[in-house]
Amino acid sequence: MKLQRATINAALCFIVLLTAGPACCDSQPTLKDVFAKDFLIGAALNNAVVSDKDPNAAAIVQRHFSAITAENVMKWAPIHPEPNRYDFAPADRFVAFGEKNKMFIIGHTLVWHHQTPSWVFKDANGSDIGREVLLERMKDHIFTVVGRYKGKVKGWDVVNEALAEDGRLRKTRWMNIIGEDFIAKAFEYAHQADPDAELYYNDFSLDTEKEKCDGAVAIVKNLKSKGLRIDGVGIQLHGGLDYPDKESLEYAITALAATGVKVMITELDIRTRSWGYRGADINRINRQSTTDSGAADDETQQKLAQKYAELFSVFLKHKTDVNRVTFWGVYDATSWIGGSPLLFDRNYQPKPAFFAVVKTAQE
Ligand code: XIL
Repeated sequence: MKLQRATINAALCFIVLLTAGPACCDSQPTLKDVFAKDFLIGAALNNAVVSDKDPNAAAIVQRHFSAITAENVMKWAPIHPEPNRYDFAPADRFVAFGEKNKMFIIGHTLVWHHQTPSWVFKDANGSDIGREVLLERMKDHIFTVVGRYKGKVKGWDVVNEALAEDGRLRKTRWMNIIGEDFIAKAFEYAHQADPDAELYYNDFSLDTEKEKCDGAVAIVKNLKSKGLRIDGVGIQLHGGLDYPDKESLEYAITALAATGVKVMITELDIRTRSWGYRGADINRINRQSTTDSGAADDETQQKLAQKYAELFSVFLKHKTDVNRVTFWGVYDATSWIGGSPLLFDRNYQPKPAFFAVVKTAQE
C-alpha cells in the first residue's frame, strides 16, 4: 500500500515537472543560437509580454528570439486613435523591452487599410477628404511615429497588404483617395523620418499566389525606379498543414530576392484546421474562424512539425536571401488564430514542431 502511494506520488511529481514553466527547459537549444549563422529569428509580441503580465512568455522571447515585431501597438488605430492624440505608452514599452534585451526591433505598420480609424479619411463633416489632405495626414503620422523611435526601431513595415490576390493593387481608401503612388509616398516619408531605418513592403499569400508575388516584385521595381529606398519584402507566411508547397515558396523567395531586396518571413504560423479560406485578411481570419478541436492531438502536431521542418529546410536552402524568420506570436494560447499553430504550447512548453525546427538547423 505504502509502495503504491509512493509510486503515485512519484508519478504526480513527474507530471508536475512536465507541465512546469520554462525553467524546466534551460537545457534545450535556443532558436536564436541554432540559426545564428543563418538568419534573425523573431516573434511578434503583444502588450502582456512586454509589460510583465506574461513573464513566462517574456522568458521564452528572451531565450529564443533575436528580433521582435509589434503585434498591434504600433498600428494606426492604437497609436494614433484621434486626430490630435497619440497613445505611445504601449509602443514605448515594446521598444524598451527590445532595447533592454538587445533585440532587432521592427515597427509594424505605418500604412494599412485595416486597424486604421475612419477619421483618417474624413473631414470634420464626415465627407471624404482629398489626395493632398490625406497625404499630409500620412506624412504627419509617419514623421511622428517613425521620428519618435528613430535609431531604435531598425526596420519598418511601411506599407502592409496593398495587393489583391490577382497581383493588382487593392481598392482601399488609400488607393482610392491618393492613387497608386500612395506606396511611393509612404516610403519617401518614412525614409525622410529616419534615413537609417530599413524599409519593407509586407503582404500575405506571396508564398502561395504567383500573381500576387509578381505584384510585390512590381512594387519593388517601381520604388527602385523612382530612386526610393526599399530594403526588403516580408512574406507573412500564414500557412496551413498542406500549404505553401515548397515550389511556390521557393518561387516567391527567388523572385523577390532577384529584385535585390532582402526577403523576410514576417508572420509565420501554421493553422491546424485544414479547410476554409487560406489567406490572412483579418476580416476573415481570427481565433473563432480557424479553431480546431483536434489541434493538440499527437497526429496533428506531428503533421505540424513536418510542415515546419519542410519550411525551415527551404529557408535554410535560401539563407543568403532570407534574412529573418519571425513567428506571429510566442505560444499557442495567445496566437491570433485558433488551434495550435506555433512552436510552444499553451503551457509554454516546446512542442514536436520546436524540436523539428531545431533539427533542420543541426542537419
Ligand atoms: C493581427 C493581430 O495578430 C491581431 O491581434 C489583431 O486583432 C488583428 O491583426 N496580417 C498582419 C498582422 O499584418 O498585423 C495581423 O495581426 C495578422 C495578419
